Amino acid sequence: MSDVPVPWIAHDPASEKVVDLARRVAETSTTVLITGESGTGKDQLARLIHELSPRRDAPYLKIDCASLPHELVESELFGHERGAFTGAVDRKFGRLEMAGGGTIVLDEVAALTTAIQSKLLRVLEERTFERLGGTETLRIDARLIALTNADLARAVSAHRFREDLYFRLSVLTVQVPALRDRPSDIMPLADHMLERLAFVHGRTDITFSEAARQALVSYGWPGNVRELKNAIERALVFAQASVLTLEDFPESIRTGGSTPTSGLRSLEEIEHEAIQATLEATRYKITRAAEVLGISRKTLLDKRKKYGLH
Ligand SMILES: Nc1ncnc2c1ncn2[C@@H]1O[C@H](COP(=O)(O)OP(=O)(O)O)[C@@H](O)[C@H]1O
Ligand SMILES: [Mg+2]
Repeated sequence: MSDVPVPWIAHDPASEKVVDLARRVAETSTTVLITGESGTGKDQLARLIHELSPRRDAPYLKIDCASLPHELVESELFGHERGAFTGAVDRKFGRLEMAGGGTIVLDEVAALTTAIQSKLLRVLEERTFERLGGTETLRIDARLIALTNADLARAVSAHRFREDLYFRLSVLTVQVPALRDRPSDIMPLADHMLERLAFVHGRTDITFSEAARQALVSYGWPGNVRELKNAIERALVFAQASVLTLEDFPESIRTGGSTPTSGLRSLEEIEHEAIQATLEATRYKITRAAEVLGISRKTLLDKRKKYGLH
């Protein structure tokens, strides 16, 4: 998209839908919940919504609820008065206050403690809050966008997330599909990233070989767009030539992702191997082998027959 400073590469119909929704959401002040696997572009989408909204010139502030200590999340959000707790030597404004008429992003919202969840619910219901240790009631003007890669509905059934807050947050949910579910985005994203990364690394005229393109398209990208970006950056840094070839990418990508699963075996295969190894180790002493395996002699003999281990 060329009309906004945050590019959201969307060629696949699945992600065009996401952009359409983002455009419509941007016009409103509604709270938005963005869900999606890690690396799908939730942060990027939140930023896009902000940039497309009438709030674009006001602050865009993000809090990472998962990596900040809980006490810090609370004071970062709500701010505190002087002396509110040990170490609160001055009054501090929270993000809710500093965001003004802008956008506040709560990243990994599932990580909020139930205490903060309750406070946040009140903010969403009444649009008011107090600084920690404060009595003055303040109004929030900013739009809130919550991000999660966790299944919030599941967190609700497990009583880890307040149901009422979940309903408040999920009124408008934007689901960012996994990259494997929008395969026609892969090459446009790859080309976009190659161009940007080549610029960052001071390289010019770099392209993908045909085989590399094919491998990128067939791979499943469990780490989504972030994994794609990292793979391209790594290839770019290591490759000397101006064409990134198949050999410049990790083995999992070269082999279409079959490597991680090729080591996996069925229970029967594992059992077969365990019995064979134990028989060998005990020099085929059935009683001893059955003891080691924790099964009866008869069961071992049956299994030995089943797997043809004589
Ligand atoms: N549609 C897109 N267009 C361009 N870049 C994208 C897109 N989606 C994701 N990215 C990039 O991929 C990386 C991961 O995206 P991010 O928003 O951090 O994912 P998430 O928050 O879901 O883990 C970032 O560098 C981001 O800029
Ligand atoms: Mg993120």
